[in-house]
Amino acid sequence: MSQNKSQKILVCVAWPYANGEQHIGHIAGAYLPPDIFARYQRMLGREVLMVSGSDTHGTPITVRAEEEKVTPAAVVEKFHHSFVDTYQTIGFTFDIFTHTDTENHWKTAQEMFAKHRENGFIYSAIQKQLYDPSVGRFLPDRYVEGTCPLCGYEDARGDQCDKCGKTYDAIELKSPKSKISGSKTLEVRETEHFFLDLAKLNDPLIKWLSTGKEHWRKHVINFAKSQAEKKELRGRPITRDLDWGISIPVKGFEGKCLYVWYEAVIGYYSSVREWAALNKTPDIWKDWWCQDRGQDVKSYYFIGKDNVDFHAILWPAMLMAHEGLHLPYDVPANEYLNSYGRKFSKSRGFMITIPYILSKYQPDAWRYALTALAPETADVDFTWDDFLERVNNELVANWGNLANRVLGFAYKRFDGKVPEPSTLSEKDSALLADVKKGFETVGELYNGVKLKAALDEIRKLCQGVNQYLSDKVPWTAIKTDPAGAATSVYVALQCVDWLKTMWAPILPHSSQTLHEMLGNDGQLFGRQYTEECKDARGSHLVLRYDHSQAKGTWEASTLKPGHPLREPKALFIKLDE
Ligand code: MF3
Ligand code: ZN
Repeated sequence: MSQNKSQKILVCVAWPYANGEQHIGHIAGAYLPPDIFARYQRMLGREVLMVSGSDTHGTPITVRAEEEKVTPAAVVEKFHHSFVDTYQTIGFTFDIFTHTDTENHWKTAQEMFAKHRENGFIYSAIQKQLYDPSVGRFLPDRYVEGTCPLCGYEDARGDQCDKCGKTYDAIELKSPKSKISGSKTLEVRETEHFFLDLAKLNDPLIKWLSTGKEHWRKHVINFAKSQAEKKELRGRPITRDLDWGISIPVKGFEGKCLYVWYEAVIGYYSSVREWAALNKTPDIWKDWWCQDRGQDVKSYYFIGKDNVDFHAILWPAMLMAHEGLHLPYDVPANEYLNSYGRKFSKSRGFMITIPYILSKYQPDAWRYALTALAPETADVDFTWDDFLERVNNELVANWGNLANRVLGFAYKRFDGKVPEPSTLSEKDSALLADVKKGFETVGELYNGVKLKAALDEIRKLCQGVNQYLSDKVPWTAIKTDPAGAATSVYVALQCVDWLKTMWAPILPHSSQTLHEMLGNDGQLFGRQYTEECKDARGSHLVLRYDHSQAKGTWEASTLKPGHPLREPKALFIKLDE
């Protein structure tokens, strides 16, 4: 795989609904992986832009607001702030994390809608919709539940089945039930809506999905292809009878709004425009999105598997219908992280939330455990025993102890300095060569979004250094062979320094601490900060990332003998059983 450094990497992260706290399944599935990937790419020296924001519209928000008897805006405000807060603590380095209820996003979404219409990919038609006469309302999307017409799952929602991931019209649901009143006596009424003409894009989509997708995960490409190939894609309704959402800039459509999925995916594009404007370089977004500015941009979409349809079919189709914008390079969707055999669920109240876990354990402990458990190719089960085992027996025992043992000994017995090695033996050189090679092997894995494999590879390298120390036992050797002990401590310290760099994308906080203990100054990564932005729709909080002071680079720097170390302290807290 080429490691071309002039490549631009656009890291797109699924926009979380601002209707509840996120749980560890979200983090393991769609939020931590892009951060690790982005940090690695930045260390490599590539230009990276990581974007996302809160998804503020649609029935997920209004259903929650009605349950809590508050306004949709209040729901959004609360959870958007919580996301920004927790992402800062756990260290997700979004260049911009905004939300969809901004003037910029409204404008961009409405413009894209107009462009789709102008290009002939949008038509209006009368649609049959479920209507609840007891409350006098149409039942779009999550206002209706029933049995999936495709797989028979009984708790399927109006727009998508959680079980099989397929989308359909609510009217196709079996035994539909109103979520507002609980009523099963529903009517079918007619209402006019706009449709995206996916049928016209069926062939281009199949062609695109069949070209150069060898690097896509099997489950993603198989799902996308089966959707595009099995049946002719049908027109997809992209407006709704709802008042909470982006209005439709067409006469006669007052009181309706754009379908939340249609406009939320546009966030990947609008947020880059907002980022460019905030940086006072309003035209720079074109370098990231416009095909006529060159092809040196690769965009990655980090999502959970229930979002594959929207990112591998709907969004590419929208980009094709717009013309001139880059299509996704990869969609490394994850499968689910379950727990004790059950699916985490916001609405069913079964979850381990992010604010909770961050109040209890170090962010890096979670980053480690959730990467080790990453559901990259299959669903994975999370248990507390497993978490404890990963943190205590892997992170602390294998890596934390290695770093602390070597540093502590060097600090105490070599006058707080990196010891001076004598001639390296074959064994010394072999270990150094082995660990150094990690910059290639681990780098390739990070670059290919094989994060769990990257973690395993670094873990193996750490084991090698631990083994080396067990053989060399510098702590006793120092009494009989001080020069030999100095050499092995030097070699081990050098390895720890390199391993710190390799761990940094996964363990940024403790790697920074270690970086300083090794006597270095400066930050491996940039600085996260927030900004309150005002526009015609009000004011919104934005999470940002300033990497101008970031010094971390993906290379094997040489540790200088005699260089002063800082007093070491434990990197990780061992957890109680
Ligand atoms: N809000 C959706 C969810 O939480 C994800 C939206 S991704 C976007 O499942 F691309 F549409 F923004
Ligand atoms: Zn289904």
